[in-house]
Amino acid sequence: PAGNDYEAEDATIAQGVVESNHAGFTGRGFVNYDNVIGSSVEWTVSGPGAVDLVLRYANGTAVNRPMDISVNGTAVSSGLAFDGTGAWTTWQTKTVKATLAAGPNKIKAAATTANGGPNVDKLSV
Ligand code: GCU
Ligand code: CA
Repeated sequence: PAGNDYEAEDATIAQGVVESNHAGFTGRGFVNYDNVIGSSVEWTVSGPGAVDLVLRYANGTAVNRPMDISVNGTAVSSGLAFDGTGAWTTWQTKTVKATLAAGPNKIKAAATTANGGPNVDKLSV
């Protein structure tokens, strides 16, 4: 499914809210993760295939907001760094490689520190 966008605001959000107060997002907004361990966004993406998971995010702090990235409950990147982007309106991408199974796949990005995740705009696959 190369080149498809999956907006965070359309995904399954646990401990986060959809907001649109920082410019530069795509779609209707982005997810503001609650600043707690375990806050998460989970997308459903159809496979199979070897893919790049491209997460678009902003982090207006100077502190890394690491997240665990998993596919169908299996970690593909643990504690992946989402470093400061300079401003909440400055969006960057982080890419991880993954292999999707046939049919629907659950792709989850979960915060691993009490700071929560960065603001997340979308997943591109
Ligand atoms: C600010 C910002 C939010 C962000 C939050 C945070 O409140 O407006 O978009 O999510 O900081 O530090 O997580
Ligand atoms: Ca937040």
